[in-house]
Amino acid sequence: QGQSDFQLQLAGRTVTISAGGTREPLDPVRFLGNRSSGKQGVALAVAARNAGATVRLLAAHMDVPPPAGVEVVPVETALQLREAALAAAADSDVVIMSAAVADFRPAAVSDTKIKKRDDRDDPVITLVRNPDILHELVELRNGAAPGRRQQLIVGFAAETGDSDGDVLAHARAKLQRKGCDLLVVNHVGTDKVFGQDTNSVVILARSGSEPQEASGTKTDVSAAIISRISGELNSVSP
Ligand code: CTP
Ligand code: CA
Repeated sequence: QGQSDFQLQLAGRTVTISAGGTREPLDPVRFLGNRSSGKQGVALAVAARNAGATVRLLAAHMDVPPPAGVEVVPVETALQLREAALAAAADSDVVIMSAAVADFRPAAVSDTKIKKRDDRDDPVITLVRNPDILHELVELRNGAAPGRRQQLIVGFAAETGDSDGDVLAHARAKLQRKGCDLLVVNHVGTDKVFGQDTNSVVILARSGSEPQEASGTKTDVSAAIISRISGELNSVSP
């Protein structure tokens, strides 16, 4: 009985999930990328689908295939992901930004392959800031008509502690900055999280409720996150 309740937790809901890592082109054959595997985003998509949601997966580069039974929107760059996310958000009850979005992109993209040449200096890559998609989604939601304002927006953060503060301090500050409802925090070191099948996260809520820990396989963690999201959605009237 508990099982069937769980499966229905997101029935009738549309959930948009971004996954993987964006790739920012330098020329036709090269890009700046990151190590996101897409596994967490895909596991979330599976968990949301199994909970009865209509799932849209905004897929940046992933090392794993997308799951069956979800709508896949392939994207490459942060700017493409932004467009896809803003469009998908318009009719989504939940938006989860689990993609690793490049903070910067090359200021110029060469139409032709960049060649090494002995008669010129080696190239210097100038970067410009990408838009903060999560923050934009929050602004859009907050300015929307009352029905839309119940949209739940979830961010992810990979943090390390440093001289400015520990992981949770950085995460709390990020949650405030972004304005999303939930922030799922990964503690990262060089050998942790990226590409791995297990994970340990803390879920922070803007409402200020106690941080919730979840660990295990990415499947376990995803189930916990989806269950928390369902709880938040169902605590306000649909
Ligand atoms: N994100 C986004 N758009 C960006 C960068 C990040 O939507 N241009 C989203 C990510 O998908 C994630 C959340 O914001 O859900 C936090 O990403 P993170 O890289 O931790 O945050 P930043 O604000 O980029 O901070 P930092 O300087 O620590 O990288
Ligand atoms: Ca970032």
